[in-house]
Amino acid sequence: MTTLTTAPLAPLLNRLFEEAAKASPQTSPVLASLSEDEFTRFLRSKTGYLDFYGQLKDVPLEISRETGTLLYMLARSSRARNIVEFGTSFGISTLHLAAALRDNGGGKLITTEFEPSKVARARENLTAGGVIDLVEIRVGDALETLRNNLPESIELLLLDGHKALYLDILNLVESRLRPGTLVVADNADFNPEYVARMRSPANGYLSTPFGSDVELSLRIG
Ligand SMILES: C[S@@+](CC[C@H](N)C(=O)[O-])C[C@H]1O[C@@H](n2cnc3c(N)ncnc32)[C@H](O)[C@@H]1O
Repeated sequence: MTTLTTAPLAPLLNRLFEEAAKASPQTSPVLASLSEDEFTRFLRSKTGYLDFYGQLKDVPLEISRETGTLLYMLARSSRARNIVEFGTSFGISTLHLAAALRDNGGGKLITTEFEPSKVARARENLTAGGVIDLVEIRVGDALETLRNNLPESIELLLLDGHKALYLDILNLVESRLRPGTLVVADNADFNPEYVARMRSPANGYLSTPFGSDVELSLRIG
C-alpha cells in the first residue's frame, strides 16, 4: 500500500478534488469577466499577476487527478528526495509529491505561494494528510523565495504558478538540476517560449507533451 492510496491522504484528496470541482475556475466571476483572448494575454504577461491571483484566492486551480497520480509515480520512480514546486495553492499537488517522498523514505519538498490565505489552507491540508513534516512552504513571490537556499540537487521540479514565469523560475533553479532530473510543467502550452526551450536538446532537455495538461522534461546535460 502507499501513502497516496490509504488514509488519511486518500480520503482527504477525494474531498479536496470534490470541493475543487464545485469551485471550478469557470464559476469564478473574475475569470468569467475575461474573454478568452484577455485570459491568454494575461497568462503570457509578466505584470499584474499578484493582483489577479489575489482575486482567485478561493479557487484551488488544482492539477487534474491524472496529473496528481503522474506526479506521485514520477517522484517514486526517480526516488526523489528533493523536490521543488512553484505554485502551492491549496496543496493538492503538494500532497501527491509529499506522499511520494514519504514512500521514498523521506526528503524535502520546497513549495511556494504568495497568497497568504492559500498558504494557510495548504498548511491545514498537509497537516491533515500527515505529511507537513516533509514540506517547507515559502511564502511570497517565487521569483524571490526560490532565489536562495535551495538543495544542492533537485530530482523533481513542478512548475504550476503563473505560466509567464516558467522560464524565470527554471533559470533560478537550473544549476541544481542534474542529468536525470524531471521537470513537470502544467499547462505549459500558455508559454510557447518555455516549450521551445525544453524541446531543443541543445538546451539540455528531452521534452514531450504528456496527457492533456503536462509538458514532461528530462534534464540530459
Ligand atoms: C495553478 S495554481 C497551483 C495549483 C497547485 N499546484 C495544485 O495543484 O494544487 C497556481 C498558484 O500559484 C500561485 N502563484 C502564481 N504566481 C506565483 C508567484 N510568482 N509566486 C508564488 N506563487 C504564485 C497562485 O496564487 C496560485 O495559487
